[in-house]
Amino acid sequence: MTADRPEPIHDLAHLGIHGILSPTPDETIGYFHDLLGMDVVAQDGDSTYLRSFNTYETWTIKITAADRAGLEYVSWRMDSPQALERRVRWLEENGFAGRWVDPDQGIGPAYEFLDPDGHPFRIYWETEVYVAPDDKKPVIPTNFQAYVGRGANVKHLDHVNLLARDVRRCRQFWEDGFGIRTYETILMPDGVKEAGAWMSSTLQGHELIYTAEKTTGSGRLHHFAYAVESREEVLRAADIMADARIYIEAGPSKHTAIQGFYLYTREPGGNRIEVANGGYFRFAPDAETYVWTADEWKLKPGWGAPIPPEFHVYGTPVVEELAEDAAQVPVLGPADL
Ligand SMILES: [Fe+2]
Repeated sequence: MTADRPEPIHDLAHLGIHGILSPTPDETIGYFHDLLGMDVVAQDGDSTYLRSFNTYETWTIKITAADRAGLEYVSWRMDSPQALERRVRWLEENGFAGRWVDPDQGIGPAYEFLDPDGHPFRIYWETEVYVAPDDKKPVIPTNFQAYVGRGANVKHLDHVNLLARDVRRCRQFWEDGFGIRTYETILMPDGVKEAGAWMSSTLQGHELIYTAEKTTGSGRLHHFAYAVESREEVLRAADIMADARIYIEAGPSKHTAIQGFYLYTREPGGNRIEVANGGYFRFAPDAETYVWTADEWKLKPGWGAPIPPEFHVYGTPVVEELAEDAAQVPVLGPADL
């Protein structure tokens, strides 16, 4: 608790809308609709827009047909129009200039730029609040739409995990430019490079995660995670996914970092998707980052089934070739990521 704490930046409101690419869009939409429980709200060309029921914005995710799986973009809603202007100015003055993107299905204009690993991000202020049609009106007016109860019944986006060749650089980019807080990091055996960083613009233990990229790829997606109401619903989601012949890569189990309960699947297009519950909140505004040394991490506190080695290599788009320094990255299992 230092007395000379610089004034923190509070310009990010929360993780926002996001887009993925799929080589099998019909099957991917089926997974999000039937198995995750999202509703289709719009269609435009090769893109389909779906929403999770506890999302106040009109839509949650955009699925676009493409020749391979991967990330289209991640976004943040900003705290105000002024916050958006301030952060665009910072990006342009610090070598991360991007471009303005027209509103998309009521959301935006957005400013698109690349993080240091090449992941496309967007920031926006203007958004369209969802108005439920009569057959989806909730009985409680503080809900956004009636309870869905289909499939895993996901409520809202929980977090995104991106692979990065230089986790430290990506973390510092968000801390310096956007005031994001980092709740946990894991160091590599050299004590300098980072194997993972868990960050958030809110009290929630993680909204944005970077973990070390072991291949020669860049700008790759590790997973998007959607929240359900309870641990029991994660177990129920596993039954639903198994019967639908969806590949379950890891879980249900509990993470050590941030301590969320997880189930990792691959949607039919190949992108890794998590059904998640829990994770801690950090209420202290000056909470210190917990830094795991590689030795400490090897003890793997916590519990859970082993995570397969592919979990630390597979991402989308798929890249097979391992980087020369891949062996330095500690194996983050069984209790994590
Ligand atoms: Fe996750």
